[in-house]
Amino acid sequence: MRIMTVCLGNICRSPAAESVLQQRLAEAGLHHVRVSSAGTADYHVGERPHELSVAEGERRGYAFSTRGIQFEDVHFDDADLVLAMDADNEADLLALVRSPEDRAKVVRLGAFAPDAEDGVRDVPDPWGHPAEAYTAMYDQIEDAVDGLVRALQDGTVDEVLARHGAAR
Ligand code: 4NP
Repeated sequence: MRIMTVCLGNICRSPAAESVLQQRLAEAGLHHVRVSSAGTADYHVGERPHELSVAEGERRGYAFSTRGIQFEDVHFDDADLVLAMDADNEADLLALVRSPEDRAKVVRLGAFAPDAEDGVRDVPDPWGHPAEAYTAMYDQIEDAVDGLVRALQDGTVDEVLARHGAAR
């Protein structure tokens, strides 16, 4: 299983989701799941994650090692699950799909959150906002990632895709 987290710039939300997911997977012993991240835009290709994303993430015990890359259609070949942070990211990803199989991999991270039954929530873009926005971002990402790890353990990822995925 290969999971890619995707936001706009690949410096705030998707590296945060990548780091949280990596740590939670390791804690759960799910060593067969690989995680990477990308941005739909090329603004920050080659850059380290945003300092506020790193500061709050490190405070919570997460590690950061990636640099920004832009999502390209061939990345669908490298992922079984492509997790968009918000509806714009999801729409941008869907504009790149080459097949129904690509489309079926796309879902918003919020689909795995405990409150998804009430409607899938976007992870808001924190870019340009103060540190509090990054605190809220991590709280939201951690809840959704915990739900994703449970779905991986329970074998219910496909059910979530069927209910909330882009191909439903
Ligand atoms: P991200 O945040 O998509 O969570 O990485 C952003 C980072 C940079 C920009 C927008 C959003 N930007 O416009 O440069």
